[in-house]
Amino acid sequence: MKKPLRFNTNTIHGGQEPDKAYGAVMPPIYQTSTFAQSTPGGHKGFEYSRSGNPTRHALEKGLASIENGSYGLAFASGLAAMDAVVKLLSPGDEIISTNDLYGGSYRLFRKVFEPFGLRFHFVDMKDPARIEAAISDKTKLIWVETPTNPMMNVIDIRAVAKLARKNNILLAVDNTFATPYIQQPLDLGADIVMHSATKYLGGHSDVVAGALVVRDSELADRLYFIQNASGAVCGPMDSYLVLRGIKTLHVRMQRHCENGAAIALYLRSHPAMEKVYWPGFEDHPNHKVAKEQMTDFGGMISFVPKGANYADAVKIVESLKVFTLAESLGGVESLAGHPASMTHASIPKEEREKSGVTDALVRLSVGIEDARDLIEDLEQALSSLG
Ligand SMILES: Cc1ncc(COP(=O)(O)O)c(C=O)c1O
Repeated sequence: MKKPLRFNTNTIHGGQEPDKAYGAVMPPIYQTSTFAQSTPGGHKGFEYSRSGNPTRHALEKGLASIENGSYGLAFASGLAAMDAVVKLLSPGDEIISTNDLYGGSYRLFRKVFEPFGLRFHFVDMKDPARIEAAISDKTKLIWVETPTNPMMNVIDIRAVAKLARKNNILLAVDNTFATPYIQQPLDLGADIVMHSATKYLGGHSDVVAGALVVRDSELADRLYFIQNASGAVCGPMDSYLVLRGIKTLHVRMQRHCENGAAIALYLRSHPAMEKVYWPGFEDHPNHKVAKEQMTDFGGMISFVPKGANYADAVKIVESLKVFTLAESLGGVESLAGHPASMTHASIPKEEREKSGVTDALVRLSVGIEDARDLIEDLEQALSSLG
């Protein structure tokens, strides 16, 4: 049996082999919709690029490898990957989801799938007992996002997996924020791992893509069927970009985590700060779980300045110069956002405020620049509050 490789080697070599045609070390971008056949069905493994494409295939094998899974699937976006998971279900089925999750995920569940007869329960998952209370005989999927976007809540994947298994429910984990460098949900008992590969996996803010990874072959077959039948596949160029990003995931994540810690500590010691959300703090509500299931705490941080309102939060994000005010996260460059008006605007105000996404909340995606420049930038932006 082949000796398993470690994570920092799998990011580069996992599932990869030199290209069959000329031995290219990086997979060529097979920018083709179709493949010549010698006789009907006589092809070399690929027939039409929605069903399969060699560049996407190389990415899918890489994805499976870094998440310790057996099967990877690459999609046109993170939401397309989620869409495929929900299509495993039937009208009348119920889904229990994290209450504090990416606004676009919430919109997909409520606005696209609810009208088709699926029922979603949004639950504060910090305490798994609340999930148990929401389970019925119709529950078919538990959707976990951890750490959550943007409140950095941490959910105990192992505990939720135990509940899911006991009740014969599928467990899917959105691993976008942590990445497999920090957390490997399949090892903790999840059935499906999902990524917005647009973020840390791609890592350079130059591609929109999504991913699923599973271990079970029957589940993989059902998802491959949906991927092909619905058609939201990752294109060859985008597959190449994500694969290239994954090769440096471990070194980028190491720096994201170092810078994240430096900035979280700086913000927390700032006299103008009311609250800083980062799972690395010892008094974070689920710090113990974070320490158990994560190897580090990542580069995502949210904060609320003392006595701040909507206009103050907007003023801060507008004043930043090294941080770019933009949607998204997980790229080499630092980004700042105002969830209430940007990433989470699709969640009704009362709903988002219940989970802490207030008008004054600012979210940072800490990049891999020199942390001193980032801290100086925050210092000048916070001083704009007067
Ligand atoms: C945690 C999380 N999940 C899913 C998504 C959706 O991914 P995409 O934008 O690639 O469709 C995002 C996007 O911001 C996200 O932050």
